[in-house]
Amino acid sequence: MPQTYPPVVPSAPFLWHGGDYNPEQWPRETWAEDFRLMQQAGVTVATVGVFSWVSLQPAEDEYTFGWLDEVIDGLHAHGIRVVLATPSAAQPAWMSQQYPDVLRSDENGVRRQQGGRTNYCPNSPNYRRLSGNIARKLAERYGQHPAVLLWHVSNEYAGACYCDTCAAQFRVWLQAKYGTLDELNARWWTPFWSHTYTDWSQILPPRANAEGLTHGLNVDYFRFMSASQLDCFRNERDILRSITPNLPITTNLMGTYKPLDYRQWAKELDVVSWDCYPNPNHSPSDIAFLHDLMRGIKDGQPFLLMEQTPSSQNWQEINALKRPGVLRLWSYLAVAHGADTVMYFQWRRGRGGCEKLHGAVIEHAGRTDTRVFREVSQLGAELTALGDTVVGAAVDARVGILFDWDNWHALDDAVGPVRNKRYIDTVRKHYGAIYRQNVPVDIVFPDSDFSRYDVLIAPMLYMVKAGVAEKVEAFVTKGGSFVATYLTGLVDETDLAFENGYPGPLSKVLGVWVEEIDALYPDQTNTLVMADGSGSYTCRHIADLLHAEGAQVLATYGSDFYAGMPVLTRNLVGQGEAYYLGSDPDPAFLDRFYGDLLRGHGIAPTISVPAGVEVAQRVKNGQPLTFVLNHNANMVTLDLGNRSYQDRLTGATLSGSITLEPYAVHLLV
Ligand code: GLA
Ligand code: ZN
Repeated sequence: MPQTYPPVVPSAPFLWHGGDYNPEQWPRETWAEDFRLMQQAGVTVATVGVFSWVSLQPAEDEYTFGWLDEVIDGLHAHGIRVVLATPSAAQPAWMSQQYPDVLRSDENGVRRQQGGRTNYCPNSPNYRRLSGNIARKLAERYGQHPAVLLWHVSNEYAGACYCDTCAAQFRVWLQAKYGTLDELNARWWTPFWSHTYTDWSQILPPRANAEGLTHGLNVDYFRFMSASQLDCFRNERDILRSITPNLPITTNLMGTYKPLDYRQWAKELDVVSWDCYPNPNHSPSDIAFLHDLMRGIKDGQPFLLMEQTPSSQNWQEINALKRPGVLRLWSYLAVAHGADTVMYFQWRRGRGGCEKLHGAVIEHAGRTDTRVFREVSQLGAELTALGDTVVGAAVDARVGILFDWDNWHALDDAVGPVRNKRYIDTVRKHYGAIYRQNVPVDIVFPDSDFSRYDVLIAPMLYMVKAGVAEKVEAFVTKGGSFVATYLTGLVDETDLAFENGYPGPLSKVLGVWVEEIDALYPDQTNTLVMADGSGSYTCRHIADLLHAEGAQVLATYGSDFYAGMPVLTRNLVGQGEAYYLGSDPDPAFLDRFYGDLLRGHGIAPTISVPAGVEVAQRVKNGQPLTFVLNHNANMVTLDLGNRSYQDRLTGATLSGSITLEPYAVHLLV
């Protein structure tokens, strides 16, 4: 049974409801109205200060905290707590003018000019000094304020810098990593195209107008940039922590955001928080995956949903409104997968700038007789009534899906066998098959403890890091089921191909050898023919030409010159088994395959539900909290059998056959 976590802030043990509030963009006459309406909407927490740098420090030696004093006191007087941001995500113009090294350089190494956000060089000494300074001032001034709950450092760290300062730091980082230039040249395979470095000073960032095809360089620059930005976070964090050791510290992340390795970031955060802005084509399963990923990076600890739109985004191609009920549904979707807060971007829609058409709780009309305000207020009341019911509850998953940022980079960098490897799509596809079984999943990483799981799925584990194959072997030997797919075990952690054949160090546990890899055109398919005669399934994209070397053959290709060669194998090792899936099958195959696999381990949903209805569970102090989420826009019937439940949201007792309204949510205990 997983542990129950303490609330992130012991004095606020409830599901926080609120969001980004930017009073510095508004005349102070609106503030009292904001506080009043926040109370009306059941807002309990406001995030302030996110982009307030120039409003707090209009010149290097001038500070203007008066307005923030008034805002924090005003919120406090209305019973609203504060997530206090440091403003370092966008530097003021005076700073870029006075210290041009704070400006970021683009992928050609050309220094950008003032403007936008995350436009700072993460290795700029002036940026580090000045961002640290404003963090210190905020901590000294507000760290003891009774309203302040949490530090929100900066905002959505992002992108990369290619300037000369970063280049110099990169060389220092590489020297620490490789020791000698010979070692670096060997790990990066630099004799290729005469790229051997004969002096450290020759090493440049992978700029767009320079070297972009040395994969070892690319993956190392990604690691270095992620680490450089993380150093910016740590710089502020350590200052804040030294002044306010009792306040937890976070920064808001972005889900499957490629340029930063959030697994490494999570280790430095007291609590993970993230901003959930699904693409229009994301299914509920895709959104659930993102929440599970954000819970997974900190090994299952509940996270904070820091931002979501109450109505529409504005930066997608087409920004549809959330349908009535969907805000509530997706808020509980987040909570069901580990969120302990429901927060928005933003409280009040600004009148200018590129976000003036982004959804907000209060829109330009300033009215409360709106659909959005009503839905937000109803949700606020409901969350308040839930008290601490859910806070700190864990997710008890027996299935793990392996994810790795380095692997993602290396796969996207690889030239061949297909241009678009579809790593995220493939992870989501396997995740989706488990999601449809309505059992909990953890997203895990190469350095995670695998022993908690019965089933471990590693889609496209192209890069196999040192020690991972041994961990997989130990997992399987003790009775686990491991699933690997095509494009597994090709390279090591500096992106050098394994000798002795694919899937590299995983060959032994999988009992297979991949001799060749075929790439299929979009309209080309093959079939996966089950050896026991139980059916055949279409497969596409990639086809590994596979030899069973110890593994049983469960399915073979149906056509082409490799017809009859294995496409699905199972290797028995110790008490467990390791599957290799050599091609990309239709979801129908994955539903069957994972259905059988889960049944074999006795993993089953607590309630069986019709299509489009999700059952998700958190567990608090041994007590299951079961969320039933109707993602359908229509009513459906659900059979609860003869067990009777209490719906914690309405107080109703439910049993037998019940009707789920469109987008309904029930929290059954
Ligand atoms: C991000 C940012 C916010 C805002 C929203 C708009 O999540 O953190 O400042 O720009 O996007 O969707
Ligand atoms: Zn730089």
